[in-house]
Amino acid sequence: METRINLPQSEMPSAWYNVLPDLPTPLAPPRDPTTGEILTPDKLEPIFAKELIAQEMSAQRFIEIPEQVKDIYRLFRPTPLVRAKRLEEAIGSKCRIYYKNESVSPSGSHKTNTSVPQVFYNKREGVKRLSTETGAGQWGTALSFACSMFDMKCTVYMVKVSFEQKPYRKILINSYGGEIFPSPSDKTNAGRAMLAKDPDCKGSLGLAISEAVEDAASHDDTKYTLGSVLNHVLLHQSVVGLETEKQLAMIGEKPDYLVGCVGGGSNFGGLVLPFLPRKLNGENITFVAAEPKACPTLTRGAYRYDYGDMARLTPLMKMHTLGHAFMPAPIHAGGLRYHGEAPIVSNLMAEGLVDARAYYQNDCFEAAMLFLRTEGFLPAPETSHAIACAIDVAKNAKPGSTVVFLYSGHGLLDLASYDAYLRGELTNYELPQECIDEALSVCPTIAG
Ligand SMILES: Cc1ncc(COP(=O)(O)O)c(C=O)c1O
Repeated sequence: METRINLPQSEMPSAWYNVLPDLPTPLAPPRDPTTGEILTPDKLEPIFAKELIAQEMSAQRFIEIPEQVKDIYRLFRPTPLVRAKRLEEAIGSKCRIYYKNESVSPSGSHKTNTSVPQVFYNKREGVKRLSTETGAGQWGTALSFACSMFDMKCTVYMVKVSFEQKPYRKILINSYGGEIFPSPSDKTNAGRAMLAKDPDCKGSLGLAISEAVEDAASHDDTKYTLGSVLNHVLLHQSVVGLETEKQLAMIGEKPDYLVGCVGGGSNFGGLVLPFLPRKLNGENITFVAAEPKACPTLTRGAYRYDYGDMARLTPLMKMHTLGHAFMPAPIHAGGLRYHGEAPIVSNLMAEGLVDARAYYQNDCFEAAMLFLRTEGFLPAPETSHAIACAIDVAKNAKPGSTVVFLYSGHGLLDLASYDAYLRGELTNYELPQECIDEALSVCPTIAG
C-alpha cells in the first residue's frame, strides 16, 4: 500500500483557483476605514501591488501562475500527501487519515505559497521594500525567503510574545536578509502609542499589522503584504487543495472530511476551497476548521464589519471577529492569535458550509506529541490544532471515512513551546465572554 502519494512536477497546478465566482452568496464589499463607504480599488494602491488588488476582486475562476513563481514553487512543490497509518493504529481509527505536508517548504510552512507571488508582483511593479507583520514567525520567514529569491528588501514586525518565545525565527529572517522588530516597536506611531500606554505590552497580530501598514503608507518605495485573511492570499493557497484533489484521485479516494487549523484562514481555505464546487454539487464533504479556545473567532466571534488591525488603518471587512481591540492570551500557537477571519471563510461559515471546533492548548500539544511519536515529525503549535481536530473527527466519523488534514508547518523552531509543554508549564485558557463583549463593543456598526 502506498503511504506517500507524490505528484510529478509536471502535474503541479498551472493556475490558482479563485472561489469568488462560485460562492453561493457574494462577499460583502470591503469599506473605507474612515468613511465607511464601499472601497474603490484605487484606495488600496498606496499599500498593495496593483495586480494583487485585481486578484482580490477578480471574477475569473482560474488565474494563471506566472512562470517565475512556478520556478520557485518547484523548489518544494508538489508537496506529498501522506497516509498517517501509524497514527490511525495508535488511536484505533476505523477511518483512513491523510495529511498534506506543507512543512517541506524552505521556510517551513504553507505561507511560502503566497509570499512568492506577492513578492513577484510587487517586484514587477517596481517596489523596492516590503513590510509585514508576523505572529509565530512563519509568515515573516516565508516573506523574507521570497524577498531573497527576488532581491527585495523586507521588514518584519513580529508580535513581541512570539519574538521572545521563538528567538531562532529572528536569526532565520536575518539570514534571508530581512530585518525584524518586536511589535510594539518604537519605529511607528502605532507602536509608540501602545508602548506609552503599556510598556510591557506583549503585542497582537492586529497591532503588528498596524505597524507594518503604517510603515508602507509612509514610505514611497515600500508596500505592505499580508500572509492571510485576504482573498488573494487564499487564491494563492489553492495550490494546496488542487494538488490534494489530484493526489486523492491517483489512489481512488474521495474525501469525507477536510480539516485545517484557522488563524486568518489561509491554509484552511487553500485546502478546502477547490473542493467547494464538488460540495455544492452534492458530494458529502465536511469542511472542519480548528481554532484555539483562547482565540475562538469562528466559534464565538460575531459576523460583522470590523477593522483588520488595532489602529483602524485597514479596510473594514465583513468577517467573524472577536473585535480589533482584542488582545489574545499569550498561547503558543502565535499564528492563531488573530481577532478576525478571512471574509471568504466567514461567508461560508455563515452559509453553514463550514463546521468549526475549538480546542485547548494542552490537548493540541498532546495530539502533537502523539503525531510525533507515531509519524515522526514535529508539528508547529498551529498545526497541532488540525491534528487534534483530525483525531477528534476520525474517532467519531462513520467507519471507512476518509479524513484529510493540512499539516501546515513544522515545529522545529518552536522547541521552547514544547519544552514548556513537557515541563507541565502550559495552561488551558478559555476566553471569558466579558472579554468578547468588551472588544466587540468598540466595533463600528455598519449594516450589511
Ligand atoms: C504553521 C502555521 N499554520 C497555520 C497558521 C495560521 O494561519 P492561516 O490561518 O492563515 O493559515 C500559521 C500562521 O502563522 C502558521 O504559522
